[in-house]
Amino acid sequence: MRKKTLVLHSLFLIALALLSCDGSGSDAGKIAEKAANTDGLIVVGFSQVGAESDWRRANTKSMRETFTKEKGYKLFFNDGQQKQANQIAAIRNFIRTKVDYIVLAPISEQGWDEALKEAKDAGIPVIVVDRMIQTSNPAFFTSWIGSDFRKEGGTAVAWMEKKFKDRKNLKIAHMQGSMGSSAQIGRTEALQEGVSRNVEWKVVVRDSGDFTQVKGKEVMERFLSEYRDIDVLYCENDNMAFGAIQAMDEARLPYGLRGGLVIISFDATRAGLEQTLAGNIAFNVECNPLHGPRVERIIQQLQEGKKPNKIVYVDETAFDAATITREETNSRAY
Ligand code: AHR
Repeated sequence: MRKKTLVLHSLFLIALALLSCDGSGSDAGKIAEKAANTDGLIVVGFSQVGAESDWRRANTKSMRETFTKEKGYKLFFNDGQQKQANQIAAIRNFIRTKVDYIVLAPISEQGWDEALKEAKDAGIPVIVVDRMIQTSNPAFFTSWIGSDFRKEGGTAVAWMEKKFKDRKNLKIAHMQGSMGSSAQIGRTEALQEGVSRNVEWKVVVRDSGDFTQVKGKEVMERFLSEYRDIDVLYCENDNMAFGAIQAMDEARLPYGLRGGLVIISFDATRAGLEQTLAGNIAFNVECNPLHGPRVERIIQQLQEGKKPNKIVYVDETAFDAATITREETNSRAY
């Protein structure tokens, strides 16, 4: 009799959790399992931005490979499909499901207060990863780990200052990432500061390619229809640079070490480094996506009752087409 009641209770919880899922994420249905049985595993709900770039896919892979059953975790993964509303719905689902930790890779910096206050009220620690968020109360998240995007942009601008030292009338096309994301804000700010320091630099055209290859190609086609004599493309990620290269090829315009347009990119993914090694991307600034083990370290500290650092920046480097080696490219893990 008691067994029958337990089974009915589990079925009820499963149905309840299924009803409360927004359906936008790949693990939406699985959330129900937490209510029914977690086998003593640490339950982590991960709200991911989407799958817009190679970087993002490598980031998802790193999280999935870290938070496995074998290592003592149950991971609920939600793909926000590039919409903040989906990410907020996922956070609320994780709260209802009573996960042990929420990990948030936020699409943009603003707009998280309400959902994160709910997580705090429910006593669930939130670890923010990759991009930063702006909150009215710093206690809305426990810890953040990610890239210093402003510094990444500064690295690219310092390279430009050296490369174009005595150059007059430098015409720059600026392709931005998803507007309002820390990656876009930091890289854009660095360029703007570079432009205000260098009187010969001018941004002649600027638009967002949303960090995707498809939009990167579209935006570059538009840039080229307006300006044929661009000197530099400051492109805020590799996938948009790949799209821009496609557009340049179709327009039969030169770029890279052979002369023509100088392309600067961010991420330094394996595919991005192949383009750098080939001389097509002149300078590529690393943005490291392998955050799974880093987030796990934070969770382990919390499990042990320790206080993790509030803000942690990862170390990153950059690659110049003039000096990059085949070995560096081949050893790239993402
Ligand atoms: O937030 C990191 C950025 O987001 C990466 O540069 C980009 O490729 C990704 O989509």
